[in-house]
Amino acid sequence: MLTNHCYQGDCRAVMREWPAALADACITDPPYGDTSLEWDRRCDGWVAEVARVLKPSACIWVFGSMRFIATLFADMEAAGFRYGQDIVWQKQNGTGFHNDRFRRVHEHAIQFYRGAWADLYRDVQHTMDARAKVVRKQATPARWHGVTGATTYVSEEGGPRIMRSVIDVANEHGRALHPTQKPLGILAPLISYSVPRGGLVVDPFMGSGSTGIAAEMLGRCWLGAELNPEYIALQSERMRQPGLVLEVEPC
Ligand SMILES: C[S@@+](CC[C@H](N)C(=O)[O-])C[C@H]1O[C@@H](n2cnc3c(N)ncnc32)[C@H](O)[C@@H]1O
Repeated sequence: MLTNHCYQGDCRAVMREWPAALADACITDPPYGDTSLEWDRRCDGWVAEVARVLKPSACIWVFGSMRFIATLFADMEAAGFRYGQDIVWQKQNGTGFHNDRFRRVHEHAIQFYRGAWADLYRDVQHTMDARAKVVRKQATPARWHGVTGATTYVSEEGGPRIMRSVIDVANEHGRALHPTQKPLGILAPLISYSVPRGGLVVDPFMGSGSTGIAAEMLGRCWLGAELNPEYIALQSERMRQPGLVLEVEPC
């Protein structure tokens, strides 16, 4: 079977043909069913299919609106996955459909995982923007979390610090080939965090192929599905676009 390949078809049928327990993670941006657009029809049952092709200890990162994510929890639980964490993608400008609400300039991605958290692949990401400081933490007595000893933490100006969960990346307005094209800069930290080098990430809703392009640039393998052959045709065009960057680019 091919890797670094996007199969055309309904992802549920496509994934049924893939061997079980082959992938380290799924990172995907499904249709949310929030609009009446042709590509935005909800696809029930995809979680169960993706759960089958993931290794026993694996995670699923899903982009989505709150309305969509809220309905996803039951499917995740049924497939043996539980909530891990979430990140916020902050964009430079948003999709303002309403003039009587806050201007929406963010999207969520939620991580669900299966197996013990300690067994999950987690490569903590850092940004090089620490402030010089010394933090002295006093010992805390045993309460709910057990006793923790006194520690001193020293950070240097411009040194590494754990990446924050709100990630600024400019969106693809003006250069997108697909209506909901994700920038590589928002996929890169999720892939690096959850997929080991040489590991495999799957995306059942590939669109213009963002997950695959970012994965390849990071030395990971990928497998995908996409229903619309016109979007599959866009993937090679997108791969040839100049200036593809993986860095988190402040907007
Ligand atoms: C939100 S878009 C993904 C965009 C993608 N993240 C990108 O950066 O280009 C969802 C995609 O899922 C596709 N899709 C919808 N239903 C599908 C299904 N049942 N199987 C496979 N793909 C499907 C749509 O055609 C659309 O391209």
